[in-house]
Amino acid sequence: MSQPTQQSVKLTGWGRYAPSQVLSNADLERMVDTSDEWIVSRTGIRERRVAAAHETTASMGAVAALRAIHTAGLQPEDIDIIILATLTPDYWMPSTAALVKEAIGNTKAFAFDVMAACSGFVYGYATASAYIQAGLAKHALVIGAELLTRFLDYTDRSTCILFGDGAGAVVLSASDEPVSPVGIELTTEPQGAYMIWLPAGGSKSPPSPETIARGEHKIRMEGRETYRFATRTLASTALAAVGKAGWTQDDVDLIIPHQANVRIIEAVAKGLDLPMDKLYVNLDKYGNTSAASVPIALAEAVNEGRVDVGDRIVFVAFGAGFTSGAVAMEWTADPARGRTADDAVRPEDVTVRAPIDWDSVDPIPPALAEILARPLPLPAELDLSDVVPGEPELVHQPTR
Ligand code: ACO
Repeated sequence: MSQPTQQSVKLTGWGRYAPSQVLSNADLERMVDTSDEWIVSRTGIRERRVAAAHETTASMGAVAALRAIHTAGLQPEDIDIIILATLTPDYWMPSTAALVKEAIGNTKAFAFDVMAACSGFVYGYATASAYIQAGLAKHALVIGAELLTRFLDYTDRSTCILFGDGAGAVVLSASDEPVSPVGIELTTEPQGAYMIWLPAGGSKSPPSPETIARGEHKIRMEGRETYRFATRTLASTALAAVGKAGWTQDDVDLIIPHQANVRIIEAVAKGLDLPMDKLYVNLDKYGNTSAASVPIALAEAVNEGRVDVGDRIVFVAFGAGFTSGAVAMEWTADPARGRTADDAVRPEDVTVRAPIDWDSVDPIPPALAEILARPLPLPAELDLSDVVPGEPELVHQPTR
């Protein structure tokens, strides 16, 4: 019997969004018994971003999504499927993907969330690829978006130093041109289910004054066990995807790993016998943004010129579950296309609708209130060295 023909899939768009407010290691030194030296030497993290009170997982996801659509040269209405990976949805229901669909101005896509923690983006990517390969969609949007700073215990120094907020997205498109084989590997090992978890709020332990008093609506983690799983699995999952693409690890130009801990990434480099310059690292700026980590890193690696047409890249993640996932693919899009996306899509132009007769309680954790109240850091690209006091054009004017 002949095999059904599979539609080719290309990655055509990428984008990311990071909130402006920065939570530094020095800030954390004032909250818990920790030090910049400990955090940098044990994790590589120097700072992370914190979403403002008006921001949500959906709003950050929508900005990253519109940037990815801009990079792909498409309109929001061209998208047939929206898959959003998160462990910090806006609500239990509806899906955050449904809110993003409305916020980006799409009327035709079907939209749903996936939950595979930090591996969620890779799981979403694999799912979207399969829909396109089966001929069920032409353009798919895959988003990883997280607002983790509202689910952290700011008295637990072993978790609150690790995580930050942000979003990344890609567009996958059907292509009539043949593409090189793509290798995808996904794993789930439930014996690690309670190594990283959030105990309360689900059907086993619905939210109540007792669960809140016990702090069970905050992330809990066994760091050492998770570390062991990560170092073992990231390399083996990446290698399995590389093998499925028909390559060996020597063929790989760049690995974009989940940004949890630079020591984990160094162990992966060692395990794969690759130099560290073949692994992309940006966790010093963002910490661990869970499902958003890989698509943020992917967008930054491409925009910074680390990826060329024809490069063989692997993105690989691990997370709660325990889950892991990797995609090995040859890069085909013009890397320069992403460079105008941040200016083309401004966060202030994107709105996520909320019910008119309801408002949330103040979402900001008390421990972060002071940090979120302070003036925003100036954008890195703003050079004030030759500005004359009183000159009218002090403000960065993005080109639209
Ligand atoms: N500052 C200072 N000391 C600390 C801190 C801190 N922030 N956190 C822990 N310590 C202390 C511990 O209490 C311990 O002290 P003790 O020896 O007196 O008991 C000591 O430092 C060593 O603790 P370890 O847990 O052994 O430290 P380790 O080197 O393993 O680093 C870390 C901890 C960074 C959490 C590491 O284990 C790790 O990165 N694990 C993986 C975590 C991860 O990637 N999670 C993401 C999962 S993805 C998802 O799905 C959400």
